[in-house]
Amino acid sequence: MMETKRKIVVFYYSQTGQILDILKNICSTIAGASVVYKQIVPEKEFPFPWNYDEFFDIFPETRLCIPPFGIKPIDLSDVQDADLVIIGGQSWFLSPSLPIQSFFASAAFAEYLKGRKLIFVNGCRNMWVNTFFKIRESAKLIGAKLVGHIVLQDRAHNLVGIVTIARWLLHGQKQASGIWPAAGVSDCDIADAAKFGITIGNALQTNDFDSLQQQLMEQGAINYVPKIAYVEKVGHRIFGIWARFIRKKGDFGNPARKFRVKTFSYYLFFVLYVISPIVLTIYHLLFPIRVFFKKKTMYEACYKLE
Ligand SMILES: Cc1cc2nc3c(=O)[nH]c(=O)nc-3n(C[C@H](O)[C@H](O)[C@H](O)COP(=O)(O)O)c2cc1C
Repeated sequence: MMETKRKIVVFYYSQTGQILDILKNICSTIAGASVVYKQIVPEKEFPFPWNYDEFFDIFPETRLCIPPFGIKPIDLSDVQDADLVIIGGQSWFLSPSLPIQSFFASAAFAEYLKGRKLIFVNGCRNMWVNTFFKIRESAKLIGAKLVGHIVLQDRAHNLVGIVTIARWLLHGQKQASGIWPAAGVSDCDIADAAKFGITIGNALQTNDFDSLQQQLMEQGAINYVPKIAYVEKVGHRIFGIWARFIRKKGDFGNPARKFRVKTFSYYLFFVLYVISPIVLTIYHLLFPIRVFFKKKTMYEACYKLE
């Protein structure tokens, strides 16, 4: 079959380059398409590694999806004819990262994305369900068609992953040492992401995206872990209460809210190591009831792109 040359535009934000590596692997196997990469650069740059105060000060606005600043302009003149848009980002505080939120909130990009086919690729630790719900909502609001969703995540045990990601994000140490494994998405999973490109390429060539997500899921595009999703669901609700509580003292950067932000940071470690094991125990105890009444509800919600 004669291949028609297609064009893909990839918008990405990444502090460490992890999501860019993933995207490059995916795109490396998309046949018959040219790929244009566009970096999303926030108006306010974030440090990496993070310092403790800045890391927590962005929490309320991230969780409540009210990005306090925008992103720098991106030239779109060479991608007006793109057939497919891929957006690569990550989860921050159980929500899309602030630069990804700013990207969707920008009138210029919303206008560009309107009516276009969109794939969202998330490179995160292990809590991405609400990020997906919010991306799906944003796509719907601006009239873009979400045709694919891929998540690559850290496979370490939840409590181990919390230690290794904190070490990475706050001290810059990604590599394994002592008893601790390397942080983030494994090199093996990053390389393996190339398999998704073949499927995306086929959809592009046939212009048939209806079963794309189904095919990507069969290739392992989403590893849904119900107990982690349950902890996330509870955490997302409690984070909302904290975020509103902190914002009563002021907007992003306001020193008046420092005490509440600090208290939240202590609370977070407490919740991760004390509350989340309790939530997981309750989750296991409720297993028979859940199976009876609410079979796979969250999973199905994650699967639906509209
Ligand atoms: C402020 C902040 C909050 C984060 N919150 C989450 C989270 O809620 N869920 C998750 O799975 N990963 C979380 N992560 C990890 C990121 O999703 C991501 O894996 C990591 O920051 C590396 O991404 P990058 O180098 O591509 O920017 C967080 C990272 C940061 C910096």
